Amino acid sequence: MAEFGQAFTTQMVVSNFQDNHWTAPEVKPIGPFSFHPGTHVLHYSSTCFEGLKAYRWTDGSIHLFRYQDNIRRLRNSAAALCLPVPSDELLEASIFAAVKAVVSEIPDLPGALYIRPTLIGTELNIGAAGRGSKEALLYVITSPVGDYFAGGIRPLKLLIDDENMRSTPKFGQVKTGGNYAASLGSVTQARAEFGADQVLFCPGGQVQETGAANFILLKGNEVITKKLDGSILPGITRDSILKLAAEQGYQIKEIDYTVDELLAWLPESEAFLSGTAAVLSPVGSLIYHGKEYLLGDGKIGEKSVQLKAKLTGIQTGKNNDTYRWTTVVE
Ligand code: PLP
Ligand code: COI
Repeated sequence: MAEFGQAFTTQMVVSNFQDNHWTAPEVKPIGPFSFHPGTHVLHYSSTCFEGLKAYRWTDGSIHLFRYQDNIRRLRNSAAALCLPVPSDELLEASIFAAVKAVVSEIPDLPGALYIRPTLIGTELNIGAAGRGSKEALLYVITSPVGDYFAGGIRPLKLLIDDENMRSTPKFGQVKTGGNYAASLGSVTQARAEFGADQVLFCPGGQVQETGAANFILLKGNEVITKKLDGSILPGITRDSILKLAAEQGYQIKEIDYTVDELLAWLPESEAFLSGTAAVLSPVGSLIYHGKEYLLGDGKIGEKSVQLKAKLTGIQTGKNNDTYRWTTVVE
């Protein structure tokens, strides 16, 4: 299978916001858009997106995972960027149409269909630096995917960056391209200098999240992760894992914690990244100020594997969906 995000299906769904209303979602062959060089998004980054998955269960039926939560988050992002906010109904219709249009292209398990609803400001106005785009394009593209990190399931190496932020204090909860752009320099350097897979952003020594996933620690009977305060993305996978862990008897601690505390906990802990793309990706070591610190023995932890099985079991129809997180598409 192609690397994550490089293969696309043949169809997409588009809808335009013009003259104060949205056009009906239209399914069309996936292909280039044409924009005037003065288009708002190209200058002022009026863009937000979502990432969710549909799975082909072994009986052939197709199921979305917690899509209503992605819709809620996209609407929050749109409002934060002063973009026209698509209705729940429009987003639901667009996502379902995008999946239905490519059912025959959805891979079998353990693959999935990654769905990328995207909203951009299309007003032609380079003077509108201080206000939102009055016109917008909503599109949903889809991509058959396997593992996000190359090399399959292996313990990841993260670099702790205690200087840079991936976002401003309140904008971390907005899923906008600018936050990813802000993290690029740090992640690129971490990869080149240390062979790191990702960066754990810890501005001022406070642990937050990585460039493309939340960070969760398992220490004894405790699940420790940064509390939601606007500075990090409120991950839907994070929320799912916390609920499943609580059900397993773990004590959930959504807190502020420091790099020093984290380093002290490492020998007796497991850690992983959580996200739609990352699913639950175990972390083997952290690099801080040039020194490598192992999580436990540096190998994939047993408890992480068990939690991952709980989550993917629900996503793929093997476990009972007691939370009603999955929705059949067809
Ligand atoms: N944090 C960041 C910065 C992300 O890009 C993602 C991926 O979507 C997440 C966290 C995890 O969010 P979710 O579990 O909703 O995919
Ligand atoms: C996701 O997990 O959906 C993400 O958005 C990560 C992505 C940046 C690859």
